[in-house]
Amino acid sequence: MLADVVDRLRCPHCDSAADVPLTLGDRILRCPEGHTFDVARQGYVSLLTGRAPAVPGDTAAMVAARESFLAGGHFAPIAEALAGRVAAAVPGGGGGVLDLGAGTGYYLAAVLEAVPGAIGIAADVSGFALRRAARAHPRIGAIRCDAWRPLPFRTGAADVVLNVFAPRNGGELYRVLRPGGVVLVVAPTDRHLRELAGAVGAVSVDPRKSDRVDAALGPHLSAAGTEAVETTLTLDHAAAVTAVAMGPAAWHVGPEELAARVGALPEPVEVTVSVTLSAYERVA
Ligand SMILES: C[S@@+](CC[C@H](N)C(=O)[O-])C[C@H]1O[C@@H](n2cnc3c(N)ncnc32)[C@H](O)[C@@H]1O
Ligand SMILES: [Zn+2]
Repeated sequence: MLADVVDRLRCPHCDSAADVPLTLGDRILRCPEGHTFDVARQGYVSLLTGRAPAVPGDTAAMVAARESFLAGGHFAPIAEALAGRVAAAVPGGGGGVLDLGAGTGYYLAAVLEAVPGAIGIAADVSGFALRRAARAHPRIGAIRCDAWRPLPFRTGAADVVLNVFAPRNGGELYRVLRPGGVVLVVAPTDRHLRELAGAVGAVSVDPRKSDRVDAALGPHLSAAGTEAVETTLTLDHAAAVTAVAMGPAAWHVGPEELAARVGALPEPVEVTVSVTLSAYERVA
């Protein structure tokens, strides 16, 4: 775990108003009140406290599918768009980038490659995701936490927050962002992967999703522009299966049923990628 990552963390047991910092020992993090958190063998630190989170996060199978699909480069245009926006937001390099719901760390690693000297915090509730995120880039620290609880990051600790197909908690994103910092949200439009959603009966995206992103962040941060990232993929059946298996449909359609439904599609199958990349600024 990098010292520069640890400096941005706070003790989840201590009074949150006090923003109590953690310090790094030998594979252990400590607060001045004596709370300790081990660095897991897989390289991440759990700062989850108390009761289990309401959601388990992505399963081992979903994370494996996500890693395989992203390794195919199919979402590289999204990673490039994010990296360009972060590089523009921190022109001199450096700074801290927090990715909330980071999954395997694919996007955070791409951003860190584009921003010399920046450090990344991959935050997720899924240990399966975090063990990959911890290895995704040498400048990443991976932290287990629940996006719907007070976040274990110090107030103003992040220069940039990424939120890619992941839960967003406007009040906490505002708190952890430094004044002048930016949140970058990637969300699907109702056309994203629609050919697969139709074929496998997957949960389709609410057409008013972008309104809901604004509603979650709007009271806390000011909208600073949205760009569309759109492309068409040509996928073989194996890639199409992983595209579905990495998303929420995996909770509803078993692997055999999924293989059968994708098998009924033409091969290769043309699939739409359609997302929005929206920026929100903390002005004060
Ligand atoms: C659809 S995946 C996106 C992962 C990554 N951003 C990407 O696009 O590759 C959503 C991620 O959010 C995580 N997640 C879901 N609920 C969460 C919560 N309450 N707190 C933190 N992470 C959560 C999941 O474990 C999963 O890794
Ligand atoms: Zn403490």
